[in-house]
Amino acid sequence: MSSIAGFASSFITFTVVLFVFLVGVLFVYLIAIYFIDRTQTEHTVRRNYPVIGRFRYIFEHLGEFFRQYFFAMDREEMPFNRAQRSWVYRAAKDIDSTVAFGSTRDLRPEGTVMFVNSAFPPLTDESLPPKPIVVGDGFCANPFTSSALVNISGMSFGAISKPAVLALSHGAKKAGCWMNTGEGGLSQYHLEGGCDIVFQIGTGKFGVRDEFGGLSEEKLKGIAGHDVVKMFEIKLSQGAKPGKGGMLPGAKVTKEIANIRGLEVGQDAISPNRHHELENNEDLLNMIQRVRRVTDKPTGFKAVISSMAWLDDLFELINRRGLDAAPDFITVDSCDGGTGAAPMSLMDDMGLPVKESLPMLIDKLNEYGLRERIKVNVSGKMINPTEVAWALCMGTDFVSTARGPMFALGCIQALQCNKNTCPTGITTHDKDLQKGLVVASKQKRVANYIKNLEKEIRIIANSCGVRRPRDLNRTHARVVVSHGRSKTLAELYPEISKD
Ligand SMILES: Cc1cc2nc3c(=O)[nH]c(=O)nc-3n(C[C@H](O)[C@H](O)[C@H](O)COP(=O)(O)O)c2cc1C
Repeated sequence: MSSIAGFASSFITFTVVLFVFLVGVLFVYLIAIYFIDRTQTEHTVRRNYPVIGRFRYIFEHLGEFFRQYFFAMDREEMPFNRAQRSWVYRAAKDIDSTVAFGSTRDLRPEGTVMFVNSAFPPLTDESLPPKPIVVGDGFCANPFTSSALVNISGMSFGAISKPAVLALSHGAKKAGCWMNTGEGGLSQYHLEGGCDIVFQIGTGKFGVRDEFGGLSEEKLKGIAGHDVVKMFEIKLSQGAKPGKGGMLPGAKVTKEIANIRGLEVGQDAISPNRHHELENNEDLLNMIQRVRRVTDKPTGFKAVISSMAWLDDLFELINRRGLDAAPDFITVDSCDGGTGAAPMSLMDDMGLPVKESLPMLIDKLNEYGLRERIKVNVSGKMINPTEVAWALCMGTDFVSTARGPMFALGCIQALQCNKNTCPTGITTHDKDLQKGLVVASKQKRVANYIKNLEKEIRIIANSCGVRRPRDLNRTHARVVVSHGRSKTLAELYPEISKD
């Protein structure tokens, strides 16, 4: 008994001494911090409010998480709000995506899209799958046919991790859509899933570079030799950073990435802000014809479109040179598109959103009689059914999305793609963080997401009175213009024909 009492008394004494010691250490630490803060010359707040000024940085950092989880309303956040993200998460998990009680969407703001329901929609068993579209028909030896409505937009291996590329490639195969390589070249991980692939030729020509940084026809032929590579896309610009190239620092250029991109290990992977050989529309059409001749596959370009004058010049030139010179497709990217990293002023303020540029492109194609010849693909926040259905009403052939599949992979919008710290392993090369991204389960989520997205687009189309999604047209959607009143897309953007 007395030994237990003795032990208890020593334990209490030890605890008290430890406590006093720790308080002492803390006190000395705070004094040190106080002098460091007071004497440093970089941070005003810490100099004026030593020690407690540091809480500002902690709260500023934590605020992001508190806002996302506790304070932001369902329809409030940017770039994607909780309602939009949750729809993707549920679709990806293939769980019930219905909502209860009533809509939380405010239908009054200008720009709100509403679909025009039919009094007599087709019966469920009269609903039909999307009509196939043929790209490059009659203009190359290997035209590409696809009925996919939604595809995976370009994200290079380098910007996203190996498990992310693998899960996307397997997921795309299961969903029956294509995957764009992004500008970082073609890796074995893109090929592993066996999905259709669109090879992107970025300004750095990664994967198809000759020794001077130009286009290597030999390498291009090699890429085209893969059966699954169906089309080639020359990247002029990307919504988040038009007119800006990019750089993957040498430290991230591993042996594997160097091989894929055609660089030396440790060499900075620099994408110039423009293709050196493209100074005008003549050059662009020459390059399209050259790539198509070498690859025998459909070739188009991706761009942010803000100027009608540019389209006028380009389409006039195509009509002068003949349909052989035309791109087989154009991908129009929205100014609010995503990226791994971009200057804020370009991300926020440069280029037009597809709400404006898609109608502009379709109308110009019609005006110049090129709508049949040149297929249209559109990307930019098309992650939920409504946006895709709007784009189909507007007249697009295909839609692509990058951040939709990222959410399906588990992205939580931590906004850290430009660091190596992505907590979900998607945009990081940190092997520990990549462990969370399990390819076997995430590929199913990518496939579920694309399939459920297409399923719900079909529901919208049927509700509008058409059997197939690609039968939607401008009479099927209305947009709120002012005072809660709406107009059909047909009224806002009357169809234009050549004559
Ligand atoms: C991490 C990341 C990497 C990207 N890399 C490329 C790229 O290599 N080439 C390209 O043309 N676009 C790239 N993009 C842009 C997307 O392909 C797409 O055009 C844009 O994000 C709009 O689609 P979204 O709103 O569905 O994300 C990237 C986007 C993200 C988020």
